[in-house]
Amino acid sequence: AEPFLVESPNVTYSKDFIEAKYTYSTVHVCKENGVTKVRPCSTHFTFRTGRQVPRLGVMLVGWGGNNGTTVTAAVLANKLGLSWMTKTGRKKANYYGSLLQASTVCLGTGPGGDVYVPFRDLLPMVHPNDIVFDGWDISSLNLAEAMRRAEVLDWQLQEQLWTHMEKMKPRPSIYIPEFIAANQEERADNVLQGSMAQQVEQIRRDIRDFKEVSGVDKVIVLWTANTERFCDVVPGLNDTADNLLRAIEQGLEVSPSTLFAVASILEGCAYINGSPQNTFVPGAVELAAQRRVFIGGDDFKSGQTKLKSVLVDFLVGAGLKTKSIVSYNHLGNNDGKNLSAPQQFRSKEISKSNVVDDTVRANPVLYGPQDKPDHCVVIKYVPYVGDSKRALDEYTSEIMMGGTNTIVIHNTCEDSLLASPIILDLAILTELCQRITFCTEADPEFQGFHSVLSILAFLCKAPLVPEGTPVVNALFRQRSCIENILR
Ligand SMILES: NC(=O)c1ccc[n+]([C@@H]2O[C@H](COP(=O)([O-])OP(=O)(O)OC[C@H]3O[C@@H](n4cnc5c(N)ncnc54)[C@H](O)[C@@H]3O)[C@@H](O)[C@H]2O)c1
Repeated sequence: AEPFLVESPNVTYSKDFIEAKYTYSTVHVCKENGVTKVRPCSTHFTFRTGRQVPRLGVMLVGWGGNNGTTVTAAVLANKLGLSWMTKTGRKKANYYGSLLQASTVCLGTGPGGDVYVPFRDLLPMVHPNDIVFDGWDISSLNLAEAMRRAEVLDWQLQEQLWTHMEKMKPRPSIYIPEFIAANQEERADNVLQGSMAQQVEQIRRDIRDFKEVSGVDKVIVLWTANTERFCDVVPGLNDTADNLLRAIEQGLEVSPSTLFAVASILEGCAYINGSPQNTFVPGAVELAAQRRVFIGGDDFKSGQTKLKSVLVDFLVGAGLKTKSIVSYNHLGNNDGKNLSAPQQFRSKEISKSNVVDDTVRANPVLYGPQDKPDHCVVIKYVPYVGDSKRALDEYTSEIMMGGTNTIVIHNTCEDSLLASPIILDLAILTELCQRITFCTEADPEFQGFHSVLSILAFLCKAPLVPEGTPVVNALFRQRSCIENILR
């Protein structure tokens, strides 16, 4: 049964669908003869959402990493209702940090005041406890041993999960050493052989095999493996779908993450990139559009950047001119080790650096066309702090009459415990979007969303959007976008 019913002529429920009519009101602004004209306009949409929630399988690339093991363990622990003792008392499995599971939306006002429901109740969605995991890793450790290597979860919880996790083994993966840091080589003992095209074929077979053996209805593939260096976009190599497929046949320069994207798209499976590199070269984006498969990314927005996308929005929104943003990070997990190599750090630096652009552009009172804050990002590898990343930020803003305001933040981000609920939200939202179609009065044929799934922006540091669409980084604007669509 639905958690609530909407009684309105605009909403109808059938056995298979929920159909909602929605008027999107916006304002068109243009300049005519030097005069700015503001014209309200509205579009009448009908949204149709399939009510059958499928059994969802999620295949993680980098399954044996800190995020991969933590998200798998967290789902198991929730499913089994586990609790465990720590020095500060008994802890129970939960989904804190998940937009869909742990945050709420106001339905409206009742006799007792405002009524809030969890985000997940807005439409029929997959429950994380029901997700079946599988995946690949260049390291052969089973998931129990990989969980121990990650040093993220309390030991008493690991002990309870051990026998379950021990049975899970990552499939051999595509390893091209030049794309990740040289310091990763020692863990690469589970790698595919053969030509590039044969390896892509194997990944496609793996997806089909997982689907068949597990009995899931749908598979979503998500990259949570190491950050790769950027790829040059080269005409003739990766600029179109055909060229990219040809480059794979010829074994030219294509990154492992792009190979996984291509394999997933060819299998009709949505592909999400949780790392910063430019997996989605133009040829991969075109292939996804041709096959009408969703792609989304880039780079989980979990700690420092999430805070930044709120804080700068607040500062500039309050009329303060932020002039300098300096961010230091130190972390000691394997992600930090990989990012200690310059090319991999560069990918992260790029992904982290554009996050304030839209907020700055939105305020021409404070910022001229060429004006933007100094923005510096530093990442250091300090093994001792493990997965418990420290993010130190300094924000300096000009205030009235030549004054300055400086805010300094020390943020301890347990990296994988922040990223895991984001992985779940990404997969569940993507699956939901596969069941939503819409039409307008002008174009009455139902269609799906654009294959570049920009609704995932709330969860990503460097949101991928369809060409020509402005990127929104401000966190609460991103959240409103999801809420508006789901309403
Ligand atoms: N809060 C966060 O944890 C966070 C936030 C944003 C982005 N990320 C990104 O998520 C990714 C994973 O983070 P992590 O902490 O789990 O890192 P990790 O190093 O613990 O895990 C990555 C795993 O990927 C595997 N791997 C490397 N190349 C592979 C390949 N070609 N195929 C299959 N497996 C491969 C490694 O063996 C490793 O087990 C990193 O790129 C990181 O930058 C993490």
